[in-house]
Amino acid sequence: MLIDGHGRKVDYLRVSVTERCNFRCQYCMPEKPFSWVPRENLLSYEDLFKFVKVSIDEGIRKVRITGGEPLLREGLENFVKMIADYKSDIDLALTTNAYLLPKAAQKLADAGLKRINVSLDSLNDEVAAKIAQKDVLKTVLKGIQAASDAGLKVKVNCVPMKGINDGELVEIMDFCKEKGYPIRYIEYMENQHAKDTAMGLNSEEIQAIIREKYNFKMIEREGSSPSQNYQLEDGYVFGIIEPHKDDFCATCNRIRLTASGVLIPCLYFEDAQSIKEAIQSNDIDKAAAILKDVLANKPEKNKWADEEGNETSSRAFYETGG
Ligand code: GTP
Ligand code: 5AD
Ligand code: SF4
Repeated sequence: MLIDGHGRKVDYLRVSVTERCNFRCQYCMPEKPFSWVPRENLLSYEDLFKFVKVSIDEGIRKVRITGGEPLLREGLENFVKMIADYKSDIDLALTTNAYLLPKAAQKLADAGLKRINVSLDSLNDEVAAKIAQKDVLKTVLKGIQAASDAGLKVKVNCVPMKGINDGELVEIMDFCKEKGYPIRYIEYMENQHAKDTAMGLNSEEIQAIIREKYNFKMIEREGSSPSQNYQLEDGYVFGIIEPHKDDFCATCNRIRLTASGVLIPCLYFEDAQSIKEAIQSNDIDKAAAILKDVLANKPEKNKWADEEGNETSSRAFYETGG
């Protein structure tokens, strides 16, 4: 079992396989030109899997594959299969923008993937295109349906933004309700890469919009889930991910590995360590020791900003995997 320096049980590893993305979501990607980490700096699937194995042996029970857009990396189903074959009862999930799912969903399900979380910020073609900076909606909806048809459990993430999609939050919920997908609205998280263009709604503002159509009550937080859940009178449960609230971090159970092998204890915390050398030289004991050291130094809370008001992490969400 893995316990961090604040007594929290850590059993959830998020592994990013690429920072590249085929979307340019306003709240995630910078508008100014930027360059990707060169491909040769990325860990191979075999090396990423070696670290996943170490983590599972040490107590990780949930693995989520993230990006950038993970389906941009070829052969993702092979990586899924390595993990599923190693331990079939791992909660094995993928976070994706769904654009490449029409073709990939069945292959991923066959390889042993259990669930996907997809972004759906709008059901209006033009608004969706404005957010992702690309015409995406029809393909995304096909992708989500393909995943569901392939037997994958689907959860939807939606980032509400003022004047952009805040008029359709209920409509997006109704769509998810009808399809049987849980939805979580995510409070926009300030970051050095996208803060100029995006303006998020906080949890109270999101709740006020939903309340215009539905009555709901707050229900108990599920284990270490990052979302606070609410239940409509008809039983449907939706969530709001409220990272700006202090209690968000109290049950944090997760660590993140980037595609280039950096192990990150918290999204808003600069310190991190590379496991690349240990893994590439097959020094499994060293990799396990780094994992434990990173956990010992996991901060108690998100640190949004330092005394001068600057964000405490220079890493982008597309690099850390959200
Ligand atoms: P489930 O396993 O279905 O509960 O998924 P998840 O919520 O762990 O995964 P998903 O990739 O859908 O993540 C939702 C979003 O919640 C992330 O992309 C982040 O934006 C946010 N989030 C999750 N964990 C943290 C965290 O530790 N800190 C902060 N600030 N945000 C987080
Ligand atoms: N604030 C909140 N959520 C974000 N995501 C990406 N960037 C941000 C941000 N700045 C979300 C995406 C996706 C999830 C992995 O992270 O919408 O659903
Ligand atoms: Fe790509 Fe996801 Fe970032 Fe959108 S939020 S640009 S889909 S990595």
